[in-house]
Amino acid sequence: MNIHLLRYDTIGSTNDEVLRHAHMGAQEGLCVVANTQLAGKGREGRTWHSERDSGLFFSVLLRPTIEERYLPLLTLLTAVAVHDTVQTLCEKPADIKWPNDVLVNEKKISGILAERCETNSGPAVVVGIGINFKTDNLPEDVKKTATSIMDETGDEPDFDEVLRTLTHFLTSRYGRFNTISDVGPVLGDWSSRSSYFRGKEVMVRTRRGEFTGTTAGLDPYGSLMVKLDDGRHTTVTAGDVTAVRPLAEETEEAPEAEDVKNEELCENE
Ligand code: BTN
Repeated sequence: MNIHLLRYDTIGSTNDEVLRHAHMGAQEGLCVVANTQLAGKGREGRTWHSERDSGLFFSVLLRPTIEERYLPLLTLLTAVAVHDTVQTLCEKPADIKWPNDVLVNEKKISGILAERCETNSGPAVVVGIGINFKTDNLPEDVKKTATSIMDETGDEPDFDEVLRTLTHFLTSRYGRFNTISDVGPVLGDWSSRSSYFRGKEVMVRTRRGEFTGTTAGLDPYGSLMVKLDDGRHTTVTAGDVTAVRPLAEETEEAPEAEDVKNEELCENE
């Protein structure tokens, strides 16, 4: 994939701008990066705070040719690339919280939002990545669970170095994944970088409710399997997962196994 980078000072959302270009027939590899976003989008309809120069706000257009059912793996692949970027820049161990939050010292340093759309040139996926450079301007409630390159290293990051490192890891992983349809390594690479892969006590929040359980690996399409407190297993395809300390919270009645589509990847007209 060849990167074609468009730089903006101020933009609504880099994801929206790339979606617009996708509908106009732009080729895979088109990237948009901005110093600030006025309407930064997070997962599950949340806002991504995007104060000027406080982070990397980056989106890339992909036109994957892999089978549809493997598309959710793209978000895991991106999380692996961002994990390696952050670890390289911070020189500290990073973690991945399912599906694609990258953490350092158990705090979120990066988030990923993948959106799928149909265009006249075929299906497209826009992958948006936010990496925190500093946390000073974040709202107090977000600050509690967030970290940044500056918080972790004490130094202000070099914007172009972050961008170069990220595009390097992303293009090399995506190239293998899409060109030779080699989806297998994604699951292994994600699992070896994530403490959430197996044996983690978690609280899962989906649109249908919340429950607690213990993580029990990934299915072939990147969904998280969770062993419920009553011994049954469920597969989580969309929602929020947070770590809980054993016995720290009362468990709640577990819902039936569900199969909700990853709307963010599957819905965008
Ligand atoms: C999350 O909720 O964790 C996902 C956050 C994704 C934020 C990035 S910043 C660049 C791109 N443009 C957006 O509007 N969102 C993504």
